[in-house]
Amino acid sequence: MKFVRNTNVFVLFYVLVVSSTIISAKPATFEQDFKVTWADSHLKPIEGGKTIQLKLDQSSGCGFASKYKYLYGRVSIKIKLVPGDSAGTVTAFYMNSDTDKIRDELDFEFLGNRTGQPYTVQTNIYAHGKGGREQRVNLWFDPSAAYHTYTILWNHKHTVFYVDEVPIRVYKNNEAKGIPYPKSQPMGVFSTLWEADNWATRGGLEKIDWSKAPFYAYYKDFEIDGCPTPGPKTTSCASNMGNWWEGAAYQELTPMQARLYRWVRQNHMIYDYCNDKSRFTVPPPECTAAAS
Ligand SMILES: *[C@@H]1O[C@H](CO)[C@@H](O)[C@H](O)[C@H]1NC(C)=O
Repeated sequence: MKFVRNTNVFVLFYVLVVSSTIISAKPATFEQDFKVTWADSHLKPIEGGKTIQLKLDQSSGCGFASKYKYLYGRVSIKIKLVPGDSAGTVTAFYMNSDTDKIRDELDFEFLGNRTGQPYTVQTNIYAHGKGGREQRVNLWFDPSAAYHTYTILWNHKHTVFYVDEVPIRVYKNNEAKGIPYPKSQPMGVFSTLWEADNWATRGGLEKIDWSKAPFYAYYKDFEIDGCPTPGPKTTSCASNMGNWWEGAAYQELTPMQARLYRWVRQNHMIYDYCNDKSRFTVPPPECTAAAS
């Protein structure tokens, strides 16, 4: 099968063996920690509430959000994406300050594809109201065949996006070099399933096939740990370097993670705004600062 062609034994070993030793954050439940934000009718708890099913059809997509916002922390969700012909569908999992002008946002967007073609994960980062930092990675497995864990780690040192235990994106805090970093606004956790066939698949060339609708994505094992807000201790919590997500093991990639990150960038990255000369004649400052 196409997806497994590049699978590296090392990655599998790491994901199965090493990752089991990593701290797991606080379990969250959909009922307690989230609320439906778009189309109640299309979002359904199944398996006794352990799993949430999101539906997209011609009448609507749907979405949910955390009840609290968090200032630093780690969020992870297991997701099984829309299977088969998912071209034109987008499943998003993101953190967002939900503020109008000076938005901070950390995005995972899963762009569907025609049957047998690889899903693309687009990540983006908004800091102090400015985004446009897209990167795209084609997944090395079929994300609709089983659940995989998608994680956002956000601390004072950096922000890391993980697919299972593999880092696919690192955005460093280079504020000392004048580069914006999300640091003062708490962010909520959001997810949506929607139609975006004007841009998502092969730049909008592949349209959604409504004869395949409804489209379903599944979510489970929500984990959120961070400094919740509103809450009396948000500020003191956020500046507490004793929080586990600020710990030495999370301040930079371990050598193993760095190796996996290189593997992703070399083998699976299909777009990096840092290298897009048609958009930026001079690469944005964070692109060059990150290397130094
Ligand atoms: C879909 O598949 C095509 C062909 O393999 C690939 O070029 C593209 O990156 C894939 N992803 C999207 C979202 O178009």
